[in-house]
Amino acid sequence: MKRHRLFPILAISLLYAPWVLAQSGSVSSEPISAKERAALFPSQERIEEGKSLAENSCAQCHGIDGISISDELPSLAGQRIVYLYRELISYQQGRRSNLAMREAVAYLDSEALLNTAIYYASLPPPRNTERVADAEAILAAMDDDPMVAVKSATTGCGSCHGADGNARIPGMPNLTAQSPEFFITVMSEYRSGERLHNMMQTLSASLDDETLANMGLYYALQEPAPTQQTASGHAENGARLAESCSSCHGVDGNVTAEGTPTLAGQDPIYFVQSLKAYGDGQRDHEPMKGAVEGLSESDMQDLAAFYAARTPQPRVVRKPLTAREWMARCDRCHGVDGNSTDPRHSRLSAQNETYLVKALQAYASGERQDSVMHAMSAPLSRGIIERLAAYYTIQEPTSVVYFEAPCAD
Ligand code: HEC
Ligand code: HEC
Ligand code: HEC
Ligand code: HEC
Repeated sequence: MKRHRLFPILAISLLYAPWVLAQSGSVSSEPISAKERAALFPSQERIEEGKSLAENSCAQCHGIDGISISDELPSLAGQRIVYLYRELISYQQGRRSNLAMREAVAYLDSEALLNTAIYYASLPPPRNTERVADAEAILAAMDDDPMVAVKSATTGCGSCHGADGNARIPGMPNLTAQSPEFFITVMSEYRSGERLHNMMQTLSASLDDETLANMGLYYALQEPAPTQQTASGHAENGARLAESCSSCHGVDGNVTAEGTPTLAGQDPIYFVQSLKAYGDGQRDHEPMKGAVEGLSESDMQDLAAFYAARTPQPRVVRKPLTAREWMARCDRCHGVDGNSTDPRHSRLSAQNETYLVKALQAYASGERQDSVMHAMSAPLSRGIIERLAAYYTIQEPTSVVYFEAPCAD
């Protein structure tokens, strides 16, 4: 038997693109079945059959031209055929839950689902004209450095903690060399009042989780500098006492564990204050309460002197990507500018903006189940999701036709 290989052609660019094979772990990356392959070359009859089904069951929401009635719904015109079909099966089998869709597909057999998919895939894709006027701003926003916006959010913190998080005022904690996770935890505790500090509670009150996450990254990315304050304690005695702390805080006060603060280079006055706060219960933390039990005031001063003289090491964190850098990863499956050439992968170009945002958020939260897309979307901030959605929605869509060519082997 002669073996065949499929070649997709972007109808507009006439570009020959080799097949991109997605990773496993997603229903949508399973190989194309014989039945699906046949649907890539549909007869006029099947298209007509799909059209009459669509008229009865789908058009009131998705339009008979495949352009949905609202920006919150996906437009289907010119969407990739195998993708459409598999999503319909997903609704039917409950992997994807949406009441309207489950009702719409409940009584259709797989042949009918495939024919409606064939019909919608055969339509010319829409141009999304609504946002075209904003194109320049949308394109520019793709290169926004996520850290620039954060830097301005930290302006008010610099007077006490230093512009780069290396505090220069006695009694103020250094914020560099801490993990973003520790930063987020502490700030959320100030915000909720769990960690008592009136001023830090006021200062953190208006910061949302996303801002906190970006701020934590900002400080972790700064070059840490040891405190400039001179400690009054005896560092040699501190070194001896610190042996009991090293299992958690590292031998030299540098930590890689996310939940434990680095102590190297920390301000000595702040250091002693926090030990006392754990001791008297003002800070509620069992392991630290146990650790400070039996320490005298001068022991605390000695520990502070020892740790203040250690060199803080930067935490290993990755600089957050711009929307354009993220997009380079989406291209692999969704094609350049969202014009997928693999019939299993959805075309994102010209798709409705609100729908794209909702879809990415649903993958991130796990509400829409797909292991590949969960991994892709979970690290995206809301700002990045909005930029990507705006970018794809203004891209010119291309339709794709397939032909079979004999394989060389
Ligand atoms: C009452 C309105 C309604 C009707 C009727 C309806 N749909 Fe939908 N459809 C939706 C909504 C809402 C969504 C988005 C749901 C979600 O986010 O999972 C959707 C999503 C889809 C998707 C997923 C698209 C994508 O990009 O992932 C496909 C495919 C689809 N519909 C096809 C159909 C077909 C085919 C029919 C007719 C058999 C149909 N729909 C009937 C409302 C409707
Ligand atoms: C007026 C001075 C001041 C300002 C302004 C200020 N802080 Fe603080 N910050 C402090 C003091 C004092 C503490 C120690 C509080 C305690 O003992 O819990 C602290 C503690 C912290 C801690 C805990 C550090 C650790 O190692 O546990 C973090 C994180 C922090 N601040 C972040 C910020 C951020 C972010 C801002 C700006 C939104 C800010 N602070 C603004 C004085 C300030
Ligand atoms: C069982 C692990 C453990 C041990 C042992 C331990 N710590 Fe801690 N330490 C922690 C954790 C976790 C925190 C963060 C607590 C919080 O969220 O408030 C912490 C917080 C601190 C802080 C506050 C730092 C800041 O930036 O706010 C200081 C100071 C500190 N420890 C010093 C010590 C000293 C000194 C010892 C030894 C005498 C010690 N710790 C022993 C786990 C430990
Ligand atoms: C390894 C392949 C792969 C990569 C990389 C990838 N995706 Fe996906 N994407 C998929 C698959 C598979 C689906 C369909 C999953 C399902 O069945 O719900 C999907 C679905 C989507 C959807 C829903 C489309 C619709 O019509 O409902 C959006 C939106 C999306 N991806 C955006 C992105 C963005 C943005 C990126 C980059 C940050 C990205 N994807 C990266 C494979 C990928």
